[in-house]
Amino acid sequence: MYLAVSRETATLLYMLGRSLGARSIVEFGTSFGISTLHLAAALKDNGGGRVIGTEFEPSKVTRARENVAAGGLSDFVEIRAGDALESLSRDLPETIDLVLLDGAKTLYARVLALLAPRLRSGAMIVADNANMCPEYVATVRAPNSGYLSVPIGDDVDLTMKI
Ligand SMILES: C[S@@+](CC[C@H](N)C(=O)[O-])C[C@H]1O[C@@H](n2cnc3c(N)ncnc32)[C@H](O)[C@@H]1O
Repeated sequence: MYLAVSRETATLLYMLGRSLGARSIVEFGTSFGISTLHLAAALKDNGGGRVIGTEFEPSKVTRARENVAAGGLSDFVEIRAGDALESLSRDLPETIDLVLLDGAKTLYARVLALLAPRLRSGAMIVADNANMCPEYVATVRAPNSGYLSVPIGDDVDLTMKI
């Protein structure tokens, strides 16, 4: 099962990556790398940068790396194997321009907390299936949270770091 983001969400990721001039992107939940390909394509077209992907299942890590290589985008992608709560607790970029949350839905708020100190002002966070993450939505919608957040379509939440 690929469980990839929709075609529309994939296009949104590429658009945001380009419009932000992103150089530094973090992805929670890589699976086979469909979203990663769109994020890495934006970095390539921006002139450089790195997507840090995260994936729990070793077989998916292997397939994602193969898919990224087949797309000629390996230079723009680092996939960290294992639990993202561990792999994103170290060696983060100085600043982060764009985040995709698409792993275990119960962990969105905790992953955001790990990344928050590195988010630049204006950074965007795309949360897929956010309708399944009430704790996350409550966090980014809270008054004085430091974020602006709106739902997009049925299942995506789009958030900006103020
Ligand atoms: C919906 S899929 C991701 C799809 C991918 N973003 C795409 O569009 O191609 C979610 C993935 O997150 C992974 N995942 C779930 N919890 C995780 C965790 N704590 N750390 C790392 N990966 C995790 C799962 O193994 C699964 O492959």
